[in-house]
Amino acid sequence: MKTYKIALYPGDGIGVDVTDAAVAVLDSVSCKRNDFGLAFSRYEWGTDYHAKHGRVAPSDYLDTLGGFDAIFLGAVGWPEKLPDNVTLQPLITMRQTFDQWACVRPARTFKGVPTPLKTTEPIDLVVVRENSEGEYVNNGGRFRQGFPDEFAVQTALHTRRGIERALRFGFDLARKRRKRLTMVTKSNAQRYSFTLWDDILEELTPEYKDVETDKQHIDAISMNFVRRPEFFDVVVGSNLFGDILTDLSGAITGSLGLNPSANLNPERNAPSLFEPVHGSAPDIAGKGIANPAGAILAAGMMLDWLGETDAGREISEAVETVLTSGGLTSELGGNLGTEAFTSKVIEAIR
Ligand code: NAD
Ligand code: IPM
Ligand code: MN
Repeated sequence: MKTYKIALYPGDGIGVDVTDAAVAVLDSVSCKRNDFGLAFSRYEWGTDYHAKHGRVAPSDYLDTLGGFDAIFLGAVGWPEKLPDNVTLQPLITMRQTFDQWACVRPARTFKGVPTPLKTTEPIDLVVVRENSEGEYVNNGGRFRQGFPDEFAVQTALHTRRGIERALRFGFDLARKRRKRLTMVTKSNAQRYSFTLWDDILEELTPEYKDVETDKQHIDAISMNFVRRPEFFDVVVGSNLFGDILTDLSGAITGSLGLNPSANLNPERNAPSLFEPVHGSAPDIAGKGIANPAGAILAAGMMLDWLGETDAGREISEAVETVLTSGGLTSELGGNLGTEAFTSKVIEAIR
């Protein structure tokens, strides 16, 4: 029996609640199947750790995490306790150091789960977010701090290799789905970086003739996510555009709390990281009402990535069963708390 070593980084706020939910579901599925095991190591890093130790995570956290088969993260950040750019640094560093360059963020509607849009067409899209460079490289500085002539420079970095591998990942995924790829651009204003994205899309398109391809500027695609979301299948975008669009894809499918995220290292030479798309939601932390569906679905994606595809499917099907039979958390108009929703998912698995 194969046992996978999983590092847990619950983080802050509701990150802790949804990690507990995901672990309970993972335990129930592995226990039921009996053909693989999961060994969890839990790391209580984040704002509280910072209050005691003066840093968000120990200095050797990357060495610690590097030895695992996968990392599961709840959510990090609590702006009132610690500036976000401090708390969130390990997350961005993990994605870049472990070369988790493909961030896969599916968003779909479920029958019976209310959404804010008028359309009755199902939404079923995946945003593939370039996750290793772009607007998130640590490149720039603050100058003349506190003086009237203070200025900041932050330079994005877009490489041919980085763009091409993100697009090819998107094309390959589109081939397994509805065979449509939309690339996000902004080449009308960002005349260097996004013309490079445009050029590489054009170069690759002939290799993927079976995939219908288009590109949309970030402003237009934001409108179209609201106006005709059913059009989208696979959407490939830069790091920041992918970040912004996936809060929107959460909102249009009913709740940000529903959406999972897989930060993949496709070469498998370092662990991949799984998390919900949402953050630590200080506004609802400690109330026991966070929707754990996104985190639970991320746990399913993790099993799928580890090769336990049947177990991964069991999790996503169980979440679907609960949601479509009216099992809803409060932000969706239901009356289930985090634990009650999780128990229903576990019942559905059993
Ligand atoms: P957020 O995603 O935490 O919350 C946005 C809104 O959605 C809030 O009203 C919240 O209550 C609601 N919400 C989010 N997840 C929910 C869930 N599972 N169930 C029900 N409602 C849910 O974003 P924010 O408030 O802008 O950020 C809070 C903190 O989280 C900040 O420190 C931010 O930097 C951080 N953040 C972390 C991650 C991450 O760890 N990957 C992602 C996004 C934001
Ligand atoms: C996300 C988050 C992160 C990001 C933050 C917490 C750094 O918003 O995973 O979507 O911007 O990538
Ligand atoms: Mn985000």
